[in-house]
Amino acid sequence: MSRVEAVVNGRKVTKNVEDHRLLVSFLREDLGLTGTHVGCDTTQCGACVVNVNGDTVKSCTFLAAHAHGCSITTVEGVADDDRLHPVQEAFHRHHALQCGYCTPGLILTAIDIIEKADRPLDEDTVRQELKGNLCRCTGYQNIVAAILDAADKYSASTIAKLA
Ligand code: FES
Ligand code: FES
Repeated sequence: MSRVEAVVNGRKVTKNVEDHRLLVSFLREDLGLTGTHVGCDTTQCGACVVNVNGDTVKSCTFLAAHAHGCSITTVEGVADDDRLHPVQEAFHRHHALQCGYCTPGLILTAIDIIEKADRPLDEDTVRQELKGNLCRCTGYQNIVAAILDAADKYSASTIAKLA
């Protein structure tokens, strides 16, 4: 067993976990944060993406024990109470989802793309950066439009501060 002390969505949590427990199971089953989804379980689809210490990770292949001492943000942590994060607003505005299964991972990835862009984003760059997130419904067009719109309306620092 390993002891995990972490900050998850701004809240301190302490749990004992089995050494092989995956971060996605820790989040979903131990903390009840079921917004993080499991699509493939093999690091391909991106449904399980969360942010750990400022970087996106695929939580289906990240051990919970390795999250000890880390700050983690899941999709439940990006809104400000009733106020959606600007990237969530943009997804809503552009109807960038259908079934929504991929959406939590895409929101975390999109925030990361905007935060880390070192020049104005263009469509090709966004599509390239999304290669680790699969969506079976939308064809990506509206997802890309939403990310470009959010990046256009808000600075990277605003996007980061609000997440
Ligand atoms: S469930 Fe983690 S990448 Fe698909
Ligand atoms: S909206 Fe259904 S998988 Fe993306």
